Amino acid sequence: MSLRVLIIDDEKPFADMLDTMLRGAGYETGVRYRGEDGLQAMAEARWDLVLCDIKMPRMNGLDLLDAMAERGLSSTVIIMSAFGTIDLAIEALRRGAYDYISKPFKRDEVVLVLRKAEEREQLRARVAELEEQVNRLEHIEGGERPLLGESEPMRELKRLLVKVAAFPTTVLLTGESGTGKELVARAIHRASPRADKPFVAVNCGAIPETLLESELFGHVRGAFTDAHADKPGLFVEAHTGTLLLDEVGELPPSLQVGLLRVLQEGEVRPVGSARSRKVDVRVIAATHRNLGEDVAEGRFREDLYYRLNVLPVHAAPLRERASDIPLLAEHILGRIAARMGFERSTLDPAATKLLLGYSWPGNVRELENVLERAMVLSDGSVIRPEDLPAYLRTSGDPVQAVVASGELSIKKAQAFIERELIKRALAETGGNRTQAARLLELSHRALLYKLKDYDLRDI
Ligand SMILES: Nc1ncnc2c1ncn2[C@@H]1O[C@H](COP(=O)(O)OP(=O)(O)OP(=O)(O)O)[C@@H](O)[C@H]1O
Ligand SMILES: [Mg+2]
Repeated sequence: MSLRVLIIDDEKPFADMLDTMLRGAGYETGVRYRGEDGLQAMAEARWDLVLCDIKMPRMNGLDLLDAMAERGLSSTVIIMSAFGTIDLAIEALRRGAYDYISKPFKRDEVVLVLRKAEEREQLRARVAELEEQVNRLEHIEGGERPLLGESEPMRELKRLLVKVAAFPTTVLLTGESGTGKELVARAIHRASPRADKPFVAVNCGAIPETLLESELFGHVRGAFTDAHADKPGLFVEAHTGTLLLDEVGELPPSLQVGLLRVLQEGEVRPVGSARSRKVDVRVIAATHRNLGEDVAEGRFREDLYYRLNVLPVHAAPLRERASDIPLLAEHILGRIAARMGFERSTLDPAATKLLLGYSWPGNVRELENVLERAMVLSDGSVIRPEDLPAYLRTSGDPVQAVVASGELSIKKAQAFIERELIKRALAETGGNRTQAARLLELSHRALLYKLKDYDLRDI
């Protein structure tokens, strides 16, 4: 994109010559012969740089700078001063001009001044973007339900969310149950320009198929027996805001078609209505399923999958970010205490160690449940190992622990057991990774890879 330069000078032949010169140098230009007209042009369009003569009848360069400040117009201004007006040029710098150039000047001189100003413009834009990002991160990490975690996967997730929040693009949120998908969706909304608009969440798996269509798209009165009045539907409720379609993988085929149409056309047609209504909704779809697999097996429409999967965001399981457990536990204990009117409990070091070593197939939600139970069971305000469920203490038998956790996914159960065996091998060899790899019948490389995967590097 070429830079837009506005030239303001009452001396028409000079202004026109400068205009030709700058267009020749590749700038996009505009010319005004009066200060007032220049100000008007700035109010109407974005100009990156303004080259402004200082001596003009009525509104001169200084007046123009004052008027700009008053109206919050922040273009970078370069003052052009003729012989004998250097004092005025200095006054202009004081009033917010970025630089000045003395008339007459050669093409190379003005281009050089513009290049310098251009660099400053770029820096300014970069600083503004970074400030925006910090601001968005504060929204993600703050509020009533902050997204917590300092582990590498969490940092990476938050870095991604800071970018994702800025645009209304569709997001596909994946992650095991209890990893915080809903929390992530809310954080995206909070950090987005739609923050003060509605956030609407619907669980596609929890509503019967017959009701879901009218729930999502609305219906008109009389559309079916129970339709006693018009109902706008969740897309309309979320208009200008964000709609979380939770468990989108559970959407029945007929509604998959309907959703695809809404996403493509940006309008919804209520059940029983002949007319469509435009909606501006940012859609976040979430699932704990592997939708790619569902597509391959014909359970989920491929076209809808691609339409949803514009920005994939993944919430890592807790066992891959075990270092977040102490921070999460502390926050959760505080919240439970506030809710139950208890004194806030703390974890003793042995209990913390058990939490760190466990594989959490139910992720943060399971951690919440375990801590709530422990708080109730503990005498006094310290949680000890005996207050934790047996399957956490007897991680001696990982198979039993998997069974006790109620996990059904073979993949997750396998990961859980692998993790336990690796911990055991490390314990037996006093942390010697080469020996541990031998016991596990793994290559050294494969073990290092798994240590990273299971966030066991510090154990
Ligand atoms: N990073 C986190 N920081 C703070 N709390 C978290 C974090 N991740 C999850 N939680 C908490 O864990 C619980 C489960 O999170 P959430 O409901 O968002 O999970 P989910 O991925 O939507 O699970 P499901 O697929 O079962 O619906 C919530 O109470 C949430 O506040
Ligand atoms: Mg959820």
